[in-house]
Amino acid sequence: MCLNIPLDKNKGGQQSVCADVTHIAKQIGFKYHSTIIWNEGNISRRTAWGSWLSASAPYVIAPVETIVVLYKENWKKEQKGISDITRDEFIEWTNGLWTFSGESKKRIGHPAPFPLELPKRCIKLFSYVGDAVLDPFLGSGTTVIAACKLGRRSIGVEIDEKYYQMSIERISKECATLKGLSWK
Ligand SMILES: C[S@@+](CC[C@H](N)C(=O)[O-])C[C@H]1O[C@@H](n2cnc3c(N)ncnc32)[C@H](O)[C@@H]1O
Repeated sequence: MCLNIPLDKNKGGQQSVCADVTHIAKQIGFKYHSTIIWNEGNISRRTAWGSWLSASAPYVIAPVETIVVLYKENWKKEQKGISDITRDEFIEWTNGLWTFSGESKKRIGHPAPFPLELPKRCIKLFSYVGDAVLDPFLGSGTTVIAACKLGRRSIGVEIDEKYYQMSIERISKECATLKGLSWK
């Protein structure tokens, strides 16, 4: 499981989101493998400085998100399959500091879309061609689009009807083989 969550939160009180969620995931039966740091290079979030130019209470915030990599039972897959990752991608992506831009909320029309590059890397690195990819928080549909472009089967779940419809539209445009559409 690749879990995309913030490293920290500082609005409404400092919280170590990544550390806390990782701890909970382990408590409920997941095993920890590693954490990828996604450097979005997004400096527009710098609005809170704490005590400006003073050591009394400055705020430190890293412009990154994390992808926590978790698994059940054994890390090594028992089934054999076809990997489509290239040599250069494998070398670059197994270095757990990923740098690429975030996606525009305005362009997609969703409050928190991630860029196609994020699920693309996770899918190519951690799944075989033809595997099934599940995104239980589909939003605008980015994971399913990445999965179909990469020849994986995929399932998305979205609770909000507006975003569900948006994901259907985006997926229909990008992927030829959309099946089993239903709301509820
Ligand atoms: C951070 S967004 C995901 C955005 C997505 N990665 C994208 O690229 O558009 C999380 C989504 O999960 C949905 N969601 C929240 N709780 C849910 C639930 N219990 N079941 C299904 N979807 C849920 C929200 O409506 C929201 O669209």
